[in-house]
Amino acid sequence: MLHLKEIDKYYDSKFQRTFVLKGINLKAKEGVFISIMGPSGSGKSTLLHIVGLLDSPSAGEYWLYDTNVTQLNEKGRGKYHRDFVGFIFQAYHLIEEMTVYENIETPLVYKGVKRKERQAMIAAVAGVTSIGLTQDPKTTARLRREGLVVFPEDLGIRRTDATRELLAAKNIADLVTWSDGLYQPPAKFRSW
Ligand SMILES: Nc1ncnc2c1ncn2[C@@H]1O[C@H](COP(=O)(O)OP(=O)(O)OP(=O)(O)O)[C@@H](O)[C@H]1O
Ligand SMILES: [Mg+2]
Repeated sequence: MLHLKEIDKYYDSKFQRTFVLKGINLKAKEGVFISIMGPSGSGKSTLLHIVGLLDSPSAGEYWLYDTNVTQLNEKGRGKYHRDFVGFIFQAYHLIEEMTVYENIETPLVYKGVKRKERQAMIAAVAGVTSIGLTQDPKTTARLRREGLVVFPEDLGIRRTDATRELLAAKNIADLVTWSDGLYQPPAKFRSW
């Protein structure tokens, strides 16, 4: 589904070229969870911005499904971003002048979802709130059938099964081992 080939990202100044990413290769199948670890300044956010189509690489190819998105123009990239990418930013990037409801609604406006449908989609996931409680369960059922909202059950996940056993790394020590010492957890996370 996602394939990065020899991705470079560099910045040129008058005297030198500074590489932030060099020769990054990554293949990911649909439905996998991936964590990227590395010290501050190692390029994690830069890579995620490229994967999320908020930034372009300096060299290399990025294939998303059957499209080489590195060849798209800005408008084309924007469309892929809108249709395929969900981002949770390090700094929240919520729009302060807007309510939580409006912040959730904004990407749906860009997708061209009609106002009434937007309202129903937000209400479907709003749980036991004044907005969630106005929702007719039949509407939520329809939205789920159409794949417009997704609950854990729809992904085959039983909430009670979501335990540590599903994770490849069971504890902080595993993460340290797997990162080959790169990840150095703060003392409060250490049990040794
Ligand atoms: N416009 C730019 N010109 C030159 N260097 C830049 C520019 N933007 C970012 N960098 C450099 O790219 C490097 C990677 O930054 P990035 O934000 O991707 O790191 P990170 O791994 O996400 O760090 P953190 O863990 O602190 O979030 C940093 O050294 C940064 O100084
Ligand atoms: Mg970062």
